[in-house]
Amino acid sequence: MTVREILKMGDPRLLRVAKPVEQFDTPEMRELIADMFETMKDANGAGLAAPQIGVDLQLVIYGYDNNPRYPDAPPVPRTVLINPVITPLGDTEVDGWEGCLSVPGLRGVVPRWERIRYTGFDEHGQPIDREADGFHARVVQHECDHLIGRLYPTRMRDFTQFGFTSVLFPDMDPNADD
Ligand code: NI
Repeated sequence: MTVREILKMGDPRLLRVAKPVEQFDTPEMRELIADMFETMKDANGAGLAAPQIGVDLQLVIYGYDNNPRYPDAPPVPRTVLINPVITPLGDTEVDGWEGCLSVPGLRGVVPRWERIRYTGFDEHGQPIDREADGFHARVVQHECDHLIGRLYPTRMRDFTQFGFTSVLFPDMDPNADD
């Protein structure tokens, strides 16, 4: 397992629309997923999308029991989600703070669907079909945005709620600050 370099905002590879995965459970895919979990853990991330390490595939990972970067967030199941499709359930949006490992040191308030259904496949090609709300729904929407070349600042509506984590949340564990 290898900790891969995480691309930062400004890199054009973060702006691509990723290609669907066509072959599951290959040695290359297993290595990629293991590296992504290692990279996410190393960075204390809540999730990571393949394009963030320069891999042009529709594959995201997320999940944790407790995350120092989001100390108040409830647990999200550890998931590999491939070729995802998100459908909003209802038309309610909620605002919440987000950060991104590709936008280090910053946080912003982003509107997201409150409740979603999401479908896709796990690392073995088995179907995933879930409903989610709250922070779980937010993480899935954030990660899947990476697959269409969207970083969270492009979803923001109020730039008065955008700034450096160390200024906005001075009491947060500095090791939790990306
Ligand atoms: Ni991100």
